Amino acid sequence: MEHLIKKAARDLVDVDNAVALTGAGISIESGIPPFRGKGGLWERIDPMMAHIDTFLNDPEKVWRVLMNEMKDVIDMARPNDAHLGLYRLEELGILKTIITQNVDGLHQMAGSRDVIEFHGSFAWQRCMECDSRCETRDVDMTQIPPRCLCGGIYRPDCVFFGEQIPPRYFQRSQQAASGCEVMLVVGTSAIIQPACLMPMTAAESGAKVIEINPDSTPLTNSVSDYLIRGPAGPILNRIVDEIEKILAKPEPN
Ligand code: OAD
Repeated sequence: MEHLIKKAARDLVDVDNAVALTGAGISIESGIPPFRGKGGLWERIDPMMAHIDTFLNDPEKVWRVLMNEMKDVIDMARPNDAHLGLYRLEELGILKTIITQNVDGLHQMAGSRDVIEFHGSFAWQRCMECDSRCETRDVDMTQIPPRCLCGGIYRPDCVFFGEQIPPRYFQRSQQAASGCEVMLVVGTSAIIQPACLMPMTAAESGAKVIEINPDSTPLTNSVSDYLIRGPAGPILNRIVDEIEKILAKPEPN
């Protein structure tokens, strides 16, 4: 693994337009469970709970079974070394944009400035009647489902299964993916479309694709140039430390 960490540092050090695609795995070290795999949300809860039709048919049930738990877990979570590592890469002028499938807001909390929330954000709720928005922390949760002042039901400003990705997020992500020289793919099983198409767009445009994940994914050995196998926090820490070491060395005459 050590040689791959050094390789990633060398691949990143001279770049000023790297992009990261992140998924639930990057927030595991912050205490937020992933969707798939061991301990994943879909082990306990039927993924159909996250389908828009289920929500429209029975918003109270989806709020009770899924949203309430998500809210509590996200409220408690703080950025971990992986979020902070990506922020450090941005500060070094290497990382330009993060495309995240996560709705937890932890990249922004870590300081990252250009974050495309591909699946929306749980930080905001939208009234299904009058379309006004309200910060989740200001929503009155004493009644479930929570309601707007107009009486309409609030839904999180997230993309449910069965819904389109907001076109502006999709277009910006494609632009970022096709314009980068390196794409870091961190903590995603890379099976949910269209997010998982971004590494392909990057690779087709000539970018190096580096995965950081304890497990292989459908991108491994096909779209990715290499996989650094392990947890995102320590690995990103090490990569950034290596880059800082390279940058601190005086240029040879
Ligand atoms: P998944 O739960 O599908 O995948 C999590 C990934 O994180 C897996 O590949 C794990 O191997 C990896 N992982 C586990 N521990 C890790 C660690 N410490 N560091 C790095 N990686 C680790 O999550 P996503 O790929 O984000 O969509 O799922 C994609 C979408 O499917 C979600 O945005 C959500 C979902 O169902 C919607 O709700 C629309």
